[in-house]
Amino acid sequence: MSEPLPVENLALIGFMGSGKSVIGKKLSRRLGFEFVDTDRLIETRAGMKISEIFDTHGEAHFRAMESQIVEELRDAKASVIATGGGLVTHNSNLERLKSFSMVVCLCASAEEIWNRVRRSQHRPLLQRPDAQEFITQKLKERMPIYRQADVLVTTEGRSANAVVEIIAHQFEKQRRGAPSVSP
Ligand code: S3P
Repeated sequence: MSEPLPVENLALIGFMGSGKSVIGKKLSRRLGFEFVDTDRLIETRAGMKISEIFDTHGEAHFRAMESQIVEELRDAKASVIATGGGLVTHNSNLERLKSFSMVVCLCASAEEIWNRVRRSQHRPLLQRPDAQEFITQKLKERMPIYRQADVLVTTEGRSANAVVEIIAHQFEKQRRGAPSVSP
């Protein structure tokens, strides 16, 4: 039987406000990896902010850009990839990410997420009067997909450094070929 290929990258998924960018940056420093943020790549490529992309071209255009980026990241090496909260919920992107990364979901409750993002102005999906209900509903809808990550880590009640250590440990274990366990 042939040896499994080593996992080369680590991708962070999860709802808006779950801490993907903050944790991702710290994790990339911890592992000595490159940090890639799909939202920032899209903004650079489009030359506009995500809210302007939604306004000008619509959400479907944004989702197509996300899928294009997942395709391009297939050749990534030693990268921590922070994804937008809806990226894995479209176009088999989760399956595709899993083919070249260990996928980690950062989890938090709807209440916690609401507390973290309630003042956020830059997320187009949350610029609505019923944002709190929207979060509860969307999180419920997306959870079955998020749960398919290789590892699920709850971020509530844990410092960013503690979360980074948990993920780094899981990643190193997986690279040695041991099965991952959600802590
Ligand atoms: C989205 C999440 C955002 C961004 C876009 C859509 C979503 O990223 O990609 O506003 O559908 O959940 P963050 O999860 O980094 O906020």
